[in-house]
Amino acid sequence: MERIGVGLIGTGFMGKCHAMAYGAVRAVFGDVPEIARVVLCDVDAGHAAACARDFGFARATTDWREIVADPTVELVSITSPNGLHREMAVAALEAGKHVWCEKPMALDLEDARAMAEAAARSGRVAALGYAYLQNPALVEARRLIEAGAIGTPFDFRGSVDEDYMADPALPWSWRLRAQDAGLGTLGDLTVHLVSLARMLMGEIEALTAVVDTVHVERPLPGGGTAAVENDDVAHALVRFASGARGTLASSRVAHGRKNGLRVEVYGSHGALWLDNERMNELNLYLAEGPVGTRGFRRILSGPAHADYARFCPAPGHGLGFNEVKVIELAELLKATTGRPTRAIDFAEGLKIEQVVHGFVRSAGEGRWVRPADL
Ligand SMILES: NC(=O)c1ccc[n+]([C@@H]2O[C@H](COP(=O)([O-])OP(=O)(O)OC[C@H]3O[C@@H](n4cnc5c(N)ncnc54)[C@H](O)[C@@H]3O)[C@@H](O)[C@H]2O)c1
Repeated sequence: MERIGVGLIGTGFMGKCHAMAYGAVRAVFGDVPEIARVVLCDVDAGHAAACARDFGFARATTDWREIVADPTVELVSITSPNGLHREMAVAALEAGKHVWCEKPMALDLEDARAMAEAAARSGRVAALGYAYLQNPALVEARRLIEAGAIGTPFDFRGSVDEDYMADPALPWSWRLRAQDAGLGTLGDLTVHLVSLARMLMGEIEALTAVVDTVHVERPLPGGGTAAVENDDVAHALVRFASGARGTLASSRVAHGRKNGLRVEVYGSHGALWLDNERMNELNLYLAEGPVGTRGFRRILSGPAHADYARFCPAPGHGLGFNEVKVIELAELLKATTGRPTRAIDFAEGLKIEQVVHGFVRSAGEGRWVRPADL
């Protein structure tokens, strides 16, 4: 089996998550290339060296261009802030590397489009960090929809809510400045919801949205306040290419919600829903049997569902966020060897970006927009 050298840029929340995936993927999947953890990069030399040691990388650097130039690196992980994704991804692809880049793709559509074009030119695998799509319970939901279990799906309700900015007293930070962070809840959270909506229902053809900042100013650490430049909440009414309709709602200021990514699909013969805060539970209703005995049934994830048995032979024991990232990496590695994959590539990622930027356009102009036209 082939061996693939990897370089990791960034060692924060997602950097550590990618590192864990690199450590685990071969043990879990067995049939993907072996991983050589070649080099890791962060801006502080001491921190980078400590992370290289702890994450099992052979060496550390403070210059990400060294990773791109290293001939023994074939796959580059990009887990730096959004504003750096374009430059890093395009450089890595032009150097002939495969890329695993965190979402959102970039600050704006122009950058995302440049990344998708670079990926297409390179012929390399360029995949994005849409981890929740790999959750076995969600893959089962799609299988059931495709098998016709709930009949024709005609209605979608989706929401994604977290409370990491809910406290109005939280200080201003770079994440609230458009030139550093790009979009707010739309880039952080709504992109995930859109990825799930597309997976279950197909393309979003048109939408009309309301996008707002609730806490318009935040305190500065040294005193005074600064304006918040991106969105706290975003809502849309959408029309899918299939003719189905739905709603998408998202907030980063929703007290009490920690990973409130929830999808519901209603069809002519039944319904299903899943809430990411209980990510090992798929809820299914079939309109059959005596009416008095009908109700949603709770299906716990288990070895009967995609990839679960790779981790664990026992049903109901549950997978978590870091495990679905291992599946995400396995899907990327399968793509590098030409096998069928559920990885979300840059072309797919661009369509997700067009939808969230479509929210902004629609809200600004007060009209329906077609994301594909942006
Ligand atoms: N898929 C998901 O569910 C998910 C979850 C959280 C974050 N993200 C995305 O991951 C990315 C990173 O977010 P995070 O929460 O890990 O942030 P973070 O702040 O925890 O980590 C960012 C890292 O990048 C490093 N960095 C910054 N500039 C650098 C440079 N020039 N060279 C090398 N390293 C540099 C920082 O030092 C830090 O280690 C963002 O794009 C974010 O949207 C995705």
